[in-house]
Amino acid sequence: MLVRNVSEMKSIVKGLKKEGMTIGFVPTMGYLHEGHISLIKCSKKENDITVVSIFVNPIQFGKNEDLDKYPRDLDRDLKICKKEGVDYVFHPSYEEMYPEGYSTYVITEGLTDKLCGAFRPGHFKGVTTVVTKLFNIIQPDKAYFGKKDYQQYKVIERMVKDLNMDVQIIGCPIIREKDGLAMSSRNNYLSPEERKSALSLSKALFRAKELFEKGETDVEKLKGEMRKIILSQPEVKEIQYIEIIHPETLESKKVAEKGDIIALAVFVGDTRLIDNIQL
Ligand code: PAJ
Repeated sequence: MLVRNVSEMKSIVKGLKKEGMTIGFVPTMGYLHEGHISLIKCSKKENDITVVSIFVNPIQFGKNEDLDKYPRDLDRDLKICKKEGVDYVFHPSYEEMYPEGYSTYVITEGLTDKLCGAFRPGHFKGVTTVVTKLFNIIQPDKAYFGKKDYQQYKVIERMVKDLNMDVQIIGCPIIREKDGLAMSSRNNYLSPEERKSALSLSKALFRAKELFEKGETDVEKLKGEMRKIILSQPEVKEIQYIEIIHPETLESKKVAEKGDIIALAVFVGDTRLIDNIQL
């Protein structure tokens, strides 16, 4: 069932809670793919009711980012949700979420300084703000986030802990195309040539993991191997970052250890792609 108003969503939630139903929540920006679907499936398994939100949140996009061209197809998304047995799709308008006079933001410091946060100022403030609003509206018992956006997952976990929010954050594995490319709504932007070059991101991550497993722990060496693989591709414009980080603090490492995350952001053509792998 499609719900567009905050007040309607809240009254539905109130009813569900009265009946003792547990609510699983999957926040998305739509244009759903297998990555999103895996979160939905997880939620369906663990909760009585599953709510999916579809909202392209303007305040998490920078001025020169892709807000206007971000792919949208509500009909297709609704069909997917129906097929997956989603109980409610919350799809508010911009005005519904940020009415005139809107002035309140949630900021998580520290964890948001690095990686994507360093290159996308204001991005995580937009994410933590909208996710807080969505949690307040939907009051989920559990909320599902993909490890594809590893930093986002950790920032949300931190925020929930710091603000004593009553929701359990579940991190779900990265879903990839058969050839290894991490699924993303933004893959839609790629030309066939760019799509080929984009494969180097996952290839580099898999290769680094393989080298690590063979005993290489020098981060500069691992990063160098990855750079070689990625920069050999004609459509790669720029490596924004490659970092090997501690899985909880997200601090950069010099010597890689089991459990660390290798995270990267790369421009393939004009499209910024992110991916990561755990050692
Ligand atoms: P969106 O990019 O639509 O992603 C929604 C959720 O799907 C996120 O938790 C993301 O990590 C997860 N996801 C995306 N691709 C995935 C993949 N290949 N494998 C596993 N999970 C994947 O992330 C957002 O939207 C927004 O920032 C949001 C949290 C909705 C706030 O606006």
